[in-house]
Amino acid sequence: MDKIIIKGGESSKTWQQAEELIEALIAHDMDKNSFILAVGGGALSDLVGFVASIYLRGIPFGIIPTTILAAVDASIGGKNGLNTALYKNLIGTIRQPDIWAFDLRFFSSLPEEEWASGFAEIIKYACITDPILFAHLEEQDLNYYKKNEDAFPEILRTCLKIKANVVQEDAEDKGIRKTLNFGHTLGHAIEKNTNLKHGQAVAIGMLYAAELSSKILGFPKEDLLRLQRLLLQYQLPLKAEIKLNEIWALVLKDKKKSSQSIDFILLESLGKAVIERLEIDYLYNSISQLLVAPKF
Ligand SMILES: NC(=O)c1ccc[n+]([C@@H]2O[C@H](COP(=O)([O-])OP(=O)(O)OC[C@H]3O[C@@H](n4cnc5c(N)ncnc54)[C@H](O)[C@@H]3O)[C@@H](O)[C@H]2O)c1
Repeated sequence: MDKIIIKGGESSKTWQQAEELIEALIAHDMDKNSFILAVGGGALSDLVGFVASIYLRGIPFGIIPTTILAAVDASIGGKNGLNTALYKNLIGTIRQPDIWAFDLRFFSSLPEEEWASGFAEIIKYACITDPILFAHLEEQDLNYYKKNEDAFPEILRTCLKIKANVVQEDAEDKGIRKTLNFGHTLGHAIEKNTNLKHGQAVAIGMLYAAELSSKILGFPKEDLLRLQRLLLQYQLPLKAEIKLNEIWALVLKDKKKSSQSIDFILLESLGKAVIERLEIDYLYNSISQLLVAPKF
């Protein structure tokens, strides 16, 4: 088995890195019968999934996620993507891995903030589909999951079920799958504009989306507070130094935009996400009001 080592992190999701990987596959004589196994975080599985789906018009590949975030989210569902200089995930394909496996031992070397970043996506699943999972998370904290190895597989199983159900219903991302983007429209823009980890930026995006949900759909204020408390409990940030004009262009370029409106994911209640088509001007004004006077 040949190994190709790639430096992890967001910088690996580029055209240049994809090209270098393709050159390496050629150098290793990889053909249609070869197999690529991605062992790494979500950035690496996005890169390898993309390259595996275009090299020789597609060769078999598998994923072994080594971060919490990759295990519960990025490695599942077949989406992969590269960033351009300005925008996240603008290039990509949808292709399911041929195998998927995971081993808890990888997580022992993960820094605390990577644990927290992964739990942001777990909290997202709870917000959009599963109030019981939300309540369960409220009873524990990040340290509990770090110290109790047996507790994580159970929560991973729940997340896999949620994502698999959604993806099976809408593999092509035309309907319900969009709810998985809760917190991500703003989250991606914040991630691109700060040094925050993916999950940390998504946490802030979720709070803004929940605040908008209160304003537009009457999402209960007490549940907004519960979300705020839960994010803190899992060591996630509630805000970042962001300027609306700096992230707005990124929001507009978000792949969920269609003409003068954006499909934005809001919460009707905890566990019930809906897709709302929001006028761009309305969204801009609402977010700028939140930035001036955040309620959290
Ligand atoms: N395709 C999808 O459906 C999907 C879904 C969610 C997120 N994503 C993408 O996933 C990426 C985020 O994934 P991530 O949080 O895994 O980030 P990452 O892949 O950047 O990994 C974070 C850091 O942890 C390091 N690392 C990986 N495994 C480790 C281990 N076991 N011990 C110590 N360090 C380790 C990496 O080298 C990197 O520096 C983003 O690019 C995001 O856009 C994709």
